[in-house]
Amino acid sequence: MTISVKNLNYFYGTTQALFDINLTAEDGDVLVLLGPSGAGKSTLIRTLNLLEVPKSGELIIANNKFDLSVATANPKQMRRLRQDVGMVFQQYNLWPHLTVLENLIEAPVKILGLDKQSAVQQALELLQRLRLADFEDRFPLHLFGGQQQRVAIARALMMKPQVLLFDEPTAALDPEITAQIVSIIQELKETGIIQVIVTHEVAVAKKVATKVVYMEQGRIIEKGDFTSFDKPQTEQFKQYLYHSH
Ligand SMILES: Nc1ncnc2c1ncn2[C@@H]1O[C@H](COP(=O)(O)OP(=O)(O)O)[C@@H](O)[C@H]1O
Ligand SMILES: [Mg+2]
Repeated sequence: MTISVKNLNYFYGTTQALFDINLTAEDGDVLVLLGPSGAGKSTLIRTLNLLEVPKSGELIIANNKFDLSVATANPKQMRRLRQDVGMVFQQYNLWPHLTVLENLIEAPVKILGLDKQSAVQQALELLQRLRLADFEDRFPLHLFGGQQQRVAIARALMMKPQVLLFDEPTAALDPEITAQIVSIIQELKETGIIQVIVTHEVAVAKKVATKVVYMEQGRIIEKGDFTSFDKPQTEQFKQYLYHSH
């Protein structure tokens, strides 16, 4: 399973926000996107499941292939893509009127057509794995931020995605909860799923990254593996790392 992005360009109206982006990832990779605020990290991660649709380029992700300069994806392709590529947002986006269990089984039952009993079974297993056993009947707003974040991860995993996208998964979480999220990301790595993570916390990035992409002003400045943290190849990434602690 792979991600391959080639010559991707994205515009907000007439303003270009991503310039000629090229990147790849393979099974078990944790690709971390770093860069200052406004660099285009969120825009880039959102193009990976076509929440933002680039003007040109090629996107291959978990066997879904899109030639973006030619045609727009049809609804069937979009459903397939959204199933294969899960996303965990910074604001969690849980449904407040549904319990934790209901949040988890909603999409698998309604979209995948999974029978309710199997969905509940899977949900309870996932809640156990994410250290949320006994939380199934709670409502999201009665949970702490870190617990809501883990519910959001569990909900994404219910779709059995091959790629999981996280935008600032540890923003606004305290160090202990951040450590829990880091260990969940490390456990997921072992399952072979590809994870793409936007973060501005270099300490978090260092703990999980197999690959690093450093961006500024809509462009990739540096790409590398986890050794890049100790041996940045560009002055810009070096400066960023230097000023981040
Ligand atoms: N909805 C939008 N409409 C217009 N411009 C946007 C929108 N979202 C982001 N931008 C602009 O695109 C650039 C990249 O933003 P973003 O991807 O959010 O960066 P990052 O996540 O790295 O902070 C910024 O200049 C930002 O102002
Ligand atoms: Mg952002």
